[in-house]
Amino acid sequence: MDARQQKIEAAREALTHVRDGMKLGIGTGSTAEEFVRLLAVRVGEGLSVIGVPTSERTETLCRDLGVPLSTLDDTPRLDLTVDGADEIDPALSLIKGGGGALLREKIVAAASQRMIVIADSSKLVETLGRFPLPIEVNPFGLKATRLAISDAASAIGVEGPIELRMTNEAPFVTDGGHFILDASFGRIPDTRALSDALHAIPGVVEHGLFLGLADAAIIADAGGARTVRAA
Ligand code: A5P
Repeated sequence: MDARQQKIEAAREALTHVRDGMKLGIGTGSTAEEFVRLLAVRVGEGLSVIGVPTSERTETLCRDLGVPLSTLDDTPRLDLTVDGADEIDPALSLIKGGGGALLREKIVAAASQRMIVIADSSKLVETLGRFPLPIEVNPFGLKATRLAISDAASAIGVEGPIELRMTNEAPFVTDGGHFILDASFGRIPDTRALSDALHAIPGVVEHGLFLGLADAAIIADAGGARTVRAA
């Protein structure tokens, strides 16, 4: 089974948790897109759901495939969010934001009764941090915010390069109009301490550590998909 097929298998398994009438948070990224494609087939067969997308990219795909959409303003309480992740640890803490949608992803996940993460097995790690941590920041005061992040991380024993995410030689701009700093900290032993330290910096809008949000992860490898619950 190749990587794409593994993503499809994880998405297929997630779809078994979707019931008629559900209000769904719909994630961003290549794995979440496989979920949208399978969901659209079920909608075409008569499944009634309403989705709140976590990015403009996902919104466009849902519209193209005929998945009915709402907004968090009109549908502020969701039953289930299905989303991908960049890293998953045994407690089901996550790093997200590789696709730049972390702010809306976190708002939608927090508004959901349950969050199921779908991924191939390459995303499983013992300790978060191999994947650079995306940190969404206000463009105003970028240098000061980057320094504050570096100082706050050092104070809890975490260090590494912090790079402004670029696209086509210009800063990458999120759906919310912010920039992303990718922090290559390596292992993050105390994710809660780092999360709290980052939240205390005024220029930080949100970061890609998702702690205590995922209820289950559906992990696919060559042998198929299995469900993992927090250790
Ligand atoms: C989007 O901002 C991310 O949080 C994605 O969920 C994450 O990058 C996983 O993407 P893939 O499914 O493409 O690996």
